Amino acid sequence: MSRFKAVIFDLDGVITDTAHYHYLAWKQLAESQGVHFDHAFNENLKGIDRMGSLDLILASSSRSYTPEEKLALADAKNLHYQQLIATMSSKDLLPGAVEALDAVRRAGLRIGLASVSKNAFTVLERLGITDKFDYVVDAATIARGKPDPEIFLKAARELGVAPADCLGVEDAVAGVAAIKSAGMFALGIGHPFVLTEADVVITSLKEFNLAAY
Ligand code: G6P
Ligand code: MG
Repeated sequence: MSRFKAVIFDLDGVITDTAHYHYLAWKQLAESQGVHFDHAFNENLKGIDRMGSLDLILASSSRSYTPEEKLALADAKNLHYQQLIATMSSKDLLPGAVEALDAVRRAGLRIGLASVSKNAFTVLERLGITDKFDYVVDAATIARGKPDPEIFLKAARELGVAPADCLGVEDAVAGVAAIKSAGMFALGIGHPFVLTEADVVITSLKEFNLAAY
């Protein structure tokens, strides 16, 4: 039994580790612009949408960019990212992810996906788990990225569940903030020192236990 009626999952860093592919693609892009890029900086980009991430990277550049130049850079990064994810398969599912989705299904709750990635549908297909979700938010329809609650509120609305009856699952600080501003219970995946706003933090979905929240 669960006191929730729906669970809304983030994708990158929760169900699959695409963070490394984003890292490789952003690093190449940043260095092409003379901007130093490392894993610590990449942490700041988790959960942040494509143009928001680009703005954070270009803030360290010595020059300024026109909107057209920015779009071209974002497209180049995305093309590289798409090449990197083309070889993904079910082997790229994080440990415990399928088990968690199946446990939520068995408990009779609705299941949503709230990723700001415009590549989310492709990634779900490659992982072979598209049909495990009742509703997947199309990131192209979202005006404000995380930490704004818009994407989680849209998922709840489309699932027909009140935000207070939703459990949100996130690995990013911005994502946990979005869940909390949506008025949902936040399950963080990562470290309690980092995800300080989360209601409960676990290390990975291997520890997911719906009855405990
Ligand atoms: C996720 C990732 C971010 C990424 C964003 C946009 O939230 O955590 O690192 O920038 O999606 O992804 P996209 O595939 O649309 O460029
Ligand atoms: Mg994430």
